[in-house]
Amino acid sequence: MKITVVGAGAVGATVADNIARRELCEELVLLDIKEGFAEGKAMDMMQTATLLGFDTKITGTTNDYSKTAGSRVVVITSGIPRKPGMTREELIGTNASIVKGVTENLLKHSPDAIVVVISNPMDTMTYLALKSSGLPKHHIIGMGGILDSARFKYYLSQALQCSPGDLQATVIGGHGDTTMIPLTRLATYQGVPVSNFLDAETLKKVAADTMVGGATLTKLIGTSAWYAPGAAGCALVESIVRDEKKVFPCCVYLEGEYGQRDICLGVPVVIGKNGWERIIEYQLNAEEQEAFNKSAEAVRNMNQVLQTIPV
Ligand code: 2OP
Repeated sequence: MKITVVGAGAVGATVADNIARRELCEELVLLDIKEGFAEGKAMDMMQTATLLGFDTKITGTTNDYSKTAGSRVVVITSGIPRKPGMTREELIGTNASIVKGVTENLLKHSPDAIVVVISNPMDTMTYLALKSSGLPKHHIIGMGGILDSARFKYYLSQALQCSPGDLQATVIGGHGDTTMIPLTRLATYQGVPVSNFLDAETLKKVAADTMVGGATLTKLIGTSAWYAPGAAGCALVESIVRDEKKVFPCCVYLEGEYGQRDICLGVPVVIGKNGWERIIEYQLNAEEQEAFNKSAEAVRNMNQVLQTIPV
């Protein structure tokens, strides 16, 4: 089986590195537009094979999409990352045409692929990939909620002084500093609501820190993060290729679920060999539903920007 990762920058390379270490496929293709860049990253990773003990064959290519032919899953990380002080939304002008072109090229050679979109602004890029490709909706998955939920669990674990693995916590809505919704009411520590252990003020701070989790890292590092985005992208690919049927919050096309339609937004979905297979409908309370509707409105406004820029 073959998997392609487009974009050999920090996030793309980390997704690829994780996929290889976990041996999720026999062949892994890394593609980038910068001459020699993907080849170099692939070679560097291949030189870890004997040290880490994996058999996945990684190759790099400069923009030759024929090398990606027959991929089962394609991961799109192309585009520019944000700099300190920038929002993900500010990237739309540059990234929209890149993501559209990349999707078209990939599907020429792998028409049945399941597409994982990581490029920002992710909710709008997922919508663009879906609309411009004409692929079945179950084949297009935006990666945001898994990452945001991992950050949510990190901040909760810091507050609770516990293992992040003992937490269940989900972020739905958009993958934006003001559009994501950490569901604190439904978060649990070993099945017990976290509100049993943390006061309202602490929970508010955890949610606020989660929402700006990516921005905090961008400020510290000087560019956007890659370890957690790379691991989150890989977890998504793993559930597809191993048909794990794991529930992850992902950005998918809604047709009435959660009260929204004609939009790609983060909701919990079952991820398996057919892509996203089923949406899990949580019973949101009025406040959560209102936040979800507001998030949808912001993402819809961003989607409308696509009409005004040349893509
Ligand atoms: C992040 O939140 C890259 O959007 C990604 O770090």
